[in-house]
Amino acid sequence: MNDLEDQLLAAAAAMATGERIVAVTGAGISAESGVPTFRDAQTGLWSSFNPQELATPDAFERNPRLVWDWYAMRAARVGEVQPNPGHLALHDLETLFPSVIIATQNVDGLHQRAGSSKVITLHGDITRYQCFADCQGRLTPIDLTSLPSWDTAAGPPRCPHCGAYVRPAVVWFGEMLPPGALDAAETACRMADTILVIGTSGEVYPAAALPFINPHAKRIEVNLAETSISRRMHYRLRSSAGAVLPKLVDAVQRLRNP
Ligand code: APR
Repeated sequence: MNDLEDQLLAAAAAMATGERIVAVTGAGISAESGVPTFRDAQTGLWSSFNPQELATPDAFERNPRLVWDWYAMRAARVGEVQPNPGHLALHDLETLFPSVIIATQNVDGLHQRAGSSKVITLHGDITRYQCFADCQGRLTPIDLTSLPSWDTAAGPPRCPHCGAYVRPAVVWFGEMLPPGALDAAETACRMADTILVIGTSGEVYPAAALPFINPHAKRIEVNLAETSISRRMHYRLRSSAGAVLPKLVDAVQRLRNP
């Protein structure tokens, strides 16, 4: 038996004894669907732009058209891809445990499209929109389909309430997480028996702190590579999420429903 199989069986055994599962996910779980990571999205026309200079409120104020077009390109790509076996395996966990909650840093909506019923979107959702001025209170949602089509030369559409620009409903650098999202994720982690940490480098806070909030939870990392939080995991599955998560779920199923 190799190290991955040993780790997988041990992780499955630890998971099978609990009832509440949380999965903290990042860009790695969507990589096999073909969603470029934040940094990988810089191809072709966009290669000369630094994402950290596009994903900020200041950048949008300076050049709304540029930032809008970058997000429009990324949202269009997300619309073309499908959930992969990793997303589907997390959905399958709902048949085995009474509580399965996903706290994702991804903005691609693939967990929801895979059928997962409790998804906390820590960094927002690239397919939704809000008023840049928050004119009806924090995170004023805007339904783009209800707006008249706009002149692309003029830049982003305008909020129907106040006339400010409409922006993507994602969390930009320097912004707070959506109200309630972090609280909900922290509460879920505090109550979890097992926390899966999947496809995240563990570099971006506050999401990176979530797996460590509950000292009693078993922590299982699924990642192709070693990360800065790997050594704090009880089990480490060095494999792609799409390959290993279905196997992990199968192994847990055999233990819970022998
Ligand atoms: N399976 C498992 N892990 C993978 C796979 C895969 N197929 N492909 C890549 N990975 C791992 C990488 O080894 C890396 O550790 O996924 C991780 C991706 O790390 P990041 O690109 O830093 O993504 P993430 O942790 O989600 O970043 C957090 O930072 O870019 C901002 O706001 C953005 O939400 C994002 C946040």
